[in-house]
Amino acid sequence: MPKEHNTHPAPAPGRVHLVGAGPGDPELITLRGMRVLSAADAVVHDFMVHPDLLAQARKDAQIFCVGKHAGRHTIEQDSINVFGRGGEEALALAAAGIPFDVVPGVTSAVAVPANAGIPVTHRGMARAFHVITGHNPPEGQAAPPLPGPDEGTLVFLMGLRRLEAITAQLLNRGWPANTPAAVVSQGTLPEQQTVVGIVSDIAAKAVAQNLPSPAILLVGEVVSLRAQLARHDGSSPFFTSSPEKREGT
Ligand SMILES: C[S@@+](CC[C@H](N)C(=O)[O-])C[C@H]1O[C@@H](n2cnc3c(N)ncnc32)[C@H](O)[C@@H]1O
Repeated sequence: MPKEHNTHPAPAPGRVHLVGAGPGDPELITLRGMRVLSAADAVVHDFMVHPDLLAQARKDAQIFCVGKHAGRHTIEQDSINVFGRGGEEALALAAAGIPFDVVPGVTSAVAVPANAGIPVTHRGMARAFHVITGHNPPEGQAAPPLPGPDEGTLVFLMGLRRLEAITAQLLNRGWPANTPAAVVSQGTLPEQQTVVGIVSDIAAKAVAQNLPSPAILLVGEVVSLRAQLARHDGSSPFFTSSPEKREGT
């Protein structure tokens, strides 16, 4: 029997772009991020991506939400290898032989405090900053020691549900109880809220405000600059929620 010939040419191999979409405000994506987003055949995103950004995808693009909320995962990490863990995603793509590139984004670790009037390094106050996960270490592993009080500003991501434990660890580590500290929730968005305190009371203050995630905990002298730098809190002066509005600004 003659072999049937497939008349369709083999599809060109796909390519994955791992795009950092910025800290919240849709205008804080990069030009390259916007370019690949608006050209993509399919977009796989988490809950933190602003709807205005998804609206920039092609009308015929397939859109998949595979996001995670703390403790509530739409799809398990192992099956999606997604979000906030760009390195793991890149490793999974490399292992599967899928071509990919990384489009770095504006990290919330620096952008969220900056937008709230807290520069994480400021001459004479902090020569370094540390970005630390607020999550518990994986089971069976001890948490590495936290940096000490002379080692720069601390920026805790994903720590909203563990503020008390984190601040207790800081006090044990020798951080003075009156070190300035802040929690910034929903940074760069119109809903941004900042609670300011000191290491010994920031957890209780943030809990009292019932701050929603995502949020960042900041610890260090630089937090005190906020009093001079934050003209407002609650919205970015540049934030506009719709492309129509943006055209007119
Ligand atoms: C999985 S990490 C991803 C971080 C991301 N790779 C980056 O560099 O911004 C998610 C954490 O980033 C922080 N985060 C992201 N967006 C934020 C925002 N708009 N306001 C406050 N914190 C934010 C929160 O601590 C959140 O739990």
